[in-house]
Amino acid sequence: MKVLFTDIASLVSPAERFGELETLENACFLVEDGYITYIGTERVPADETVSLSGKTVIPGFVDSHAHPVFAGDRAQEFAHRMTGESYGAGGINYTVGLTRAASDAELRSNLESIVGEFLASGITHFEAKSGYGLDVDTEARLLRIASEYTTDVTFLGAHVVPRGEVREAYLASVCGEMLDRALPYAKWVDVFVDRGAFSVEEARRVLIEAVGKWLKPRLHANQLENIGAIDLALEFDCASVDHCTHLNDSDIRKLVHSNTVVTLLPGAEFSTRSPYPDAKKLVEAGVTIAIATDCNPGSSYTTSMPFCIAVAVREMGLSPDQALWAATRGGAKALRNNLGTLQVGSKADFVVLDAPSHIHLAYRPGVQLVSQTYVSGRKVFERN
Ligand code: NIG
Ligand code: FE
Repeated sequence: MKVLFTDIASLVSPAERFGELETLENACFLVEDGYITYIGTERVPADETVSLSGKTVIPGFVDSHAHPVFAGDRAQEFAHRMTGESYGAGGINYTVGLTRAASDAELRSNLESIVGEFLASGITHFEAKSGYGLDVDTEARLLRIASEYTTDVTFLGAHVVPRGEVREAYLASVCGEMLDRALPYAKWVDVFVDRGAFSVEEARRVLIEAVGKWLKPRLHANQLENIGAIDLALEFDCASVDHCTHLNDSDIRKLVHSNTVVTLLPGAEFSTRSPYPDAKKLVEAGVTIAIATDCNPGSSYTTSMPFCIAVAVREMGLSPDQALWAATRGGAKALRNNLGTLQVGSKADFVVLDAPSHIHLAYRPGVQLVSQTYVSGRKVFERN
């Protein structure tokens, strides 16, 4: 079945180089079996034609960092923070309690609501971490449920030491039985390396065990403090090092010469009222950047990639082109896959914006500009 999508005022796709976009005006493209087989200005024969009515088309957003499997929320914690309290890793235990008590059906239903919101915000592919179970059975349960919705499932047993556990015994479990139970579902391993979570030495132990069992590494690092996690990320050739709110010049120099993407999480600084990292400085140094939602009930309860783009542009110093690149191709690079572009051979994951250009994503903050979302050439969301 060949479907020709036509009447696209502007088709925008990231080029290979960070921040560069290629634009084709008055475009159409052909989709066969979920993949793009032709892009151009001439119409080609097809079994079906779908007019996108003169709109802007961009690749679906690739959300490379999310914690979408949990129960309950932490609205009160957020309210207290907005009146002066500071954010710490401790709130995670509150969500752990609610998540352990939730049934599979409740967790699945929460996750489905979040996935619906992702699609409405133009996210066509997302990563999903565990990390709110923090015991052997619940971590395995979260990973199994996550694996029903995405192929990028991440074992985050080393999120914090859960309340009531002895640190050393817990780490031994993460590196032993919990890891073994994660293996059927997880592709990635992540550790929260930061003040109040795990030290660099502890994280190294987890990575050695998990990588030894073929999980691929990525890290939460330098969100609250710089405790030296960037060297660890580079030592393990992590696909991505995420948050990076606090980086020094030597970290930046090393990241430039690495294969590790820096994933910025604008929702986290926004919702914890923390200083934003200087993305402009990273770009000027030559670092490859992704933007992700970090969707979780504590530090960033957003499912909106357009919101994250707007904040990254306004507060972190990315240009609108760079922010679009980071939310599409950047996310794909952070997951080491080929998504996030619209070229011949690309998976037909795309978003129709009700706007004359992608710049409007940052220029019109808070406005729902995503009018349709397609995954593998199939419409999965349409705004009423
Ligand atoms: O990425 N920083 C660690 N983990 C999450 C927040 C978890 C929570 O507060 O519930 C994050 O921001
Ligand atoms: Fe996170």
